[in-house]
Amino acid sequence: MIKKLKIACFVFAICIFTCFFKSDAQSSVAIAVKVNQIKAPVQPTMWGIFFEDINLGADGGLYAELIKNRSFEFQSPLMGWSQQGKNFKEGDVLVQNRQETNAANPRFIRVNAHSTAKGEQGLTNEGFRGMGIKKGVGYDFSVMYRMKNPGVKLNIELADSTGKILGSATLIPVVSSGKDWKKQSVSFIANATEPKAKLNIWFEVTGVIDLDMISLFPKDTWKNRPGGMRADMVQKLADLKPGFIRFPGGCIVEGRDLATRYQWKKTIGPVEDRHLIINRWNTEFAHRPAPDYYQTFGLGFFEYFQLAEDIGAEPLPILNAGMACQFNTAEVAPMDEIGPYVQDALDLIEFANGNTATRWGKMRAQMGHPAPFNLKMMGVGNENWGPQYIERLQAFTKAIKAKYPDFKLDYSSGTDPGGDRFDYLNNYLRKMKADIIDEHYYRRPEWFLANAKRYDNYDRNGSKIFAGEYAAQSDKTVSINNKNNWESAIAEAAFMTGMERNAAVVHMASYAPLFAHADGWQWTPDLIWVDNLRTFGTPNYYVQKLFSNYKGTDAVPILMNNEEIAGKDSLYASAVIDKKSNEVIIKVVNASDKQKSTTISIDGAANLAGEGSVTLLKGNSLQSVNSLEDPMAVSPVTKSIQLKGKLFDMALQPYSFSVIRVSIK
Ligand code: AHR
Repeated sequence: MIKKLKIACFVFAICIFTCFFKSDAQSSVAIAVKVNQIKAPVQPTMWGIFFEDINLGADGGLYAELIKNRSFEFQSPLMGWSQQGKNFKEGDVLVQNRQETNAANPRFIRVNAHSTAKGEQGLTNEGFRGMGIKKGVGYDFSVMYRMKNPGVKLNIELADSTGKILGSATLIPVVSSGKDWKKQSVSFIANATEPKAKLNIWFEVTGVIDLDMISLFPKDTWKNRPGGMRADMVQKLADLKPGFIRFPGGCIVEGRDLATRYQWKKTIGPVEDRHLIINRWNTEFAHRPAPDYYQTFGLGFFEYFQLAEDIGAEPLPILNAGMACQFNTAEVAPMDEIGPYVQDALDLIEFANGNTATRWGKMRAQMGHPAPFNLKMMGVGNENWGPQYIERLQAFTKAIKAKYPDFKLDYSSGTDPGGDRFDYLNNYLRKMKADIIDEHYYRRPEWFLANAKRYDNYDRNGSKIFAGEYAAQSDKTVSINNKNNWESAIAEAAFMTGMERNAAVVHMASYAPLFAHADGWQWTPDLIWVDNLRTFGTPNYYVQKLFSNYKGTDAVPILMNNEEIAGKDSLYASAVIDKKSNEVIIKVVNASDKQKSTTISIDGAANLAGEGSVTLLKGNSLQSVNSLEDPMAVSPVTKSIQLKGKLFDMALQPYSFSVIRVSIK
């Protein structure tokens, strides 16, 4: 009996062991990467960025000017300014308008100063949601002025909300004929850090002075350029190593109406000559009004080209197609008046590339960049649709290709990745043999997971795809409840493996929008969030960064049961080799709540390093987000892995994105 029991126990133990062993063997997935079967080159432009002045992206954000409404051109000319001191009388500040002689910068203020001491009569500027001031950093105050008779002295001071002075200087204007404007600067160093400072200008002594372009910039701008960009924000872009930068929009290219469309020629030359307009996001969303949102164009087309060059990205300017936003006025330029719009496009190519003897090339040189910017492509229109768009595109295409046959043009396929408008444009643009078709998708995370195969059957010989704007929406498009949570980021990562697998077709992709100011946003989700002093990358940012930093040079197959990995068992994967660094780079998303054991085989390499690395990106939960207080909550962590010949085991954690790199010796 005992013997029988012993045998039964033994058989039972064997069964249990076999079951465990069997289930383990079943759940371990075999994945093969074929490094010697190149599918397509990965374009150097593959992963880029899309910048639009939305969410205080430029004014109040990237453009480091701290004074709001510096030239009094807002609809309310003194918006952002307040009068201070017991000596201020009605009429001491008069807004003057010289529209007839200066249409680009018509307004200035005339100040009647009649105070004997500092603190009696002054103006305060509140900045863009305050001014971010940093201890030890130098600040350049400058102003354009006219003063006929000696007298007025300007005492400049930065103050925090309690009135504590953070830095100060005195500017003593010199007398002029009263006609000519002078520009004068004074600098000082801040003695404390303050996120919401304001600037006081105290008028001392008696006299009359005209003031315009009152400006305050930190000295520590990107590359220390005077009047430049916020270095911490540019650094976030540079860290992405973007292949291109699409600018300046987005809907602001179109404008609510044609009068407020983006016109690049009004954004170059001296800043005081750049014609400010209202930002279309000022009034777009009743639930997120931004009455003080304007475009000063201090960040204009020259600066965009320079930024692209600085961060090693190809510039991709988008021009108005002779159509205002079709969600707003839907105005179009009549076809017999489309000439100036087309000419703007031709002139822009000359501005970027023309030699310095040409009209626009000379202008570029005068602005400090005699060498060409080497512009290779341009977009015509943003989210335009219908036959009226095709008609206008044909006019642009004919003129641009006649003069610059190799120049690449990027056309919009509308607002959505499907539907009648998309189908109409997609068919037509392909008939036109469009170089690049720009697709936009703002969709739920489920859509991104379900569409990882979107490009598997696109024509390899036809137009190339630019995924120009995409972002997974945790709530719904334009909802203020959208969050940059891990669920949205992992869905984008899964979809991006599909783009990378289809590098033969997808030549460019960029998340949208790029920046949002915590105190001044209109649209969520956004890739990078900032306040006046800080920045942080969202989980979506780290997804973009991992794809872009490890984009490789050639896509190769990565297979499970001989099939591409695009959603089966909630796994998504792509692989590239990098001929420059001699690496194989594997990207795998596990979009399930279960850990997955895999054995990955790197086939076709003569010799592999015995050790590689895995960079893991993962949230504690699908709702995990980064924040100004906890900027790295969801951020990449890299560890080493050991290979046995061409094999290694990899446990893919639930809801994780892994980037594996192995050197090919
Ligand atoms: O990225 C925000 C907006 O979304 C862009 O301006 C527009 O192109 C899209 O509809």
